[in-house]
Amino acid sequence: MGERVLITGGAGFIGSHLVDALLKKGYLVRVYDNLEPQVHGESHKIPDYLNKEAELIVGDIRDRDKLKKAIHNIDIVFHFAAAVGVAQSMYEIAKYTDSNTMGGAILLDIIANEKHKIRKLIVASSMSVYGEGAYKCNNCGKVYPKIRSLEQFERNDWGMKCPNCNADVRPVPTSEDKPLFPTSIYAVSKRDHEEMFLIVGRAYQIPTVALRFFNVYGPRQALSNPYTGVAAIFSSRLMNDNPPIIFEDGNQARDFIHVSDIVQACILAIEKSEGDYQVFNVGTGRKLSVLDVANVLMDKLSFKGEPQIVNRFREGDIRHCYADISLIKKVLGYEPKVKFEDGIIDLVNWVKLQKAEDKVNFAIDILDRKGLTK
Ligand code: UD1
Repeated sequence: MGERVLITGGAGFIGSHLVDALLKKGYLVRVYDNLEPQVHGESHKIPDYLNKEAELIVGDIRDRDKLKKAIHNIDIVFHFAAAVGVAQSMYEIAKYTDSNTMGGAILLDIIANEKHKIRKLIVASSMSVYGEGAYKCNNCGKVYPKIRSLEQFERNDWGMKCPNCNADVRPVPTSEDKPLFPTSIYAVSKRDHEEMFLIVGRAYQIPTVALRFFNVYGPRQALSNPYTGVAAIFSSRLMNDNPPIIFEDGNQARDFIHVSDIVQACILAIEKSEGDYQVFNVGTGRKLSVLDVANVLMDKLSFKGEPQIVNRFREGDIRHCYADISLIKKVLGYEPKVKFEDGIIDLVNWVKLQKAEDKVNFAIDILDRKGLTK
């Protein structure tokens, strides 16, 4: 009989792919998910893609009694339940802190105070905990600039500067030892997650691993959620024959990782003990600009127009961050398998079969009204 795994947020984009992989490997899987309307639609419908072999408990992560029942007989927990929009977290401050920080706290409180047989905990952290990534300055070497100034934005100058000598700096891979400087409420809640899980895991001797996911893309992204990741947002715009809206100048860079490589890292984290009580980057080590992603998607979805580059900053955003993956390669034997050029075709082939409502302008209006775009 396989071990029993609980995935909170398991009906979502990343969780549901992990469900499939774990079932295939012989684990018994239980999903705990609130079927959030912003992700799953107003009818709280169970997504068609959710594997029928998994047991589903519909509940909010803050519902202590229900969550306590969900933990019954579980050996391994993946905590993925979270609100995920960086920009939205800048005005839904209490909601993000409540569902993410408090939600995680309730799960840990149950683990600390109730009977259970959990032997492993994995928490989904995020590259956003770093704030800006690492940079190289020609004069000062490796530096960690924090945030750009408003006065810089007024000049449409989007680049990062050296915190010591103010020279222009270039991004380099970010490793786990970079000091954390979260720039959004979402990022603060993710830093809370990883620290809380590691502290409680250590105290109760439950091996715990925090995985800092970089920018995940792939089939099952919530296309009609205007606060989802940029590849899904651009896809939804293009399907509705609208150009992608690009903040700043489009040259901001991220590390785009196909969801199957995230799943690979998750499985290594439970099947190997070498990573216990540690934090790992889960990315590809390659940086791509937002404009590159827009261009590839416009090409693959046969869009004839130009992207709309708005030259504005979205509060909470960082300029560049991509992963140094040497630690996870060395300790867990992780190796990213999907090249962006192939992974994006997988996303596009799926997107073409979907319907998506483009609510991006509506979301940007809210940010504008609140002064969150500069
Ligand atoms: C994303 C995830 C976050 C995850 C993190 C890990 C979402 C909503 N956010 O954050 O949960 O923890 O990766 O790396 O899935 N952009 C545009 N136009 C748009 C939307 C975005 O130009 O319409 C730009 C943004 O300004 C930003 C970049 O694209 O510069 C990436 O934005 P986004 O996809 O929201 O990702 P992250 O903030 O990196």
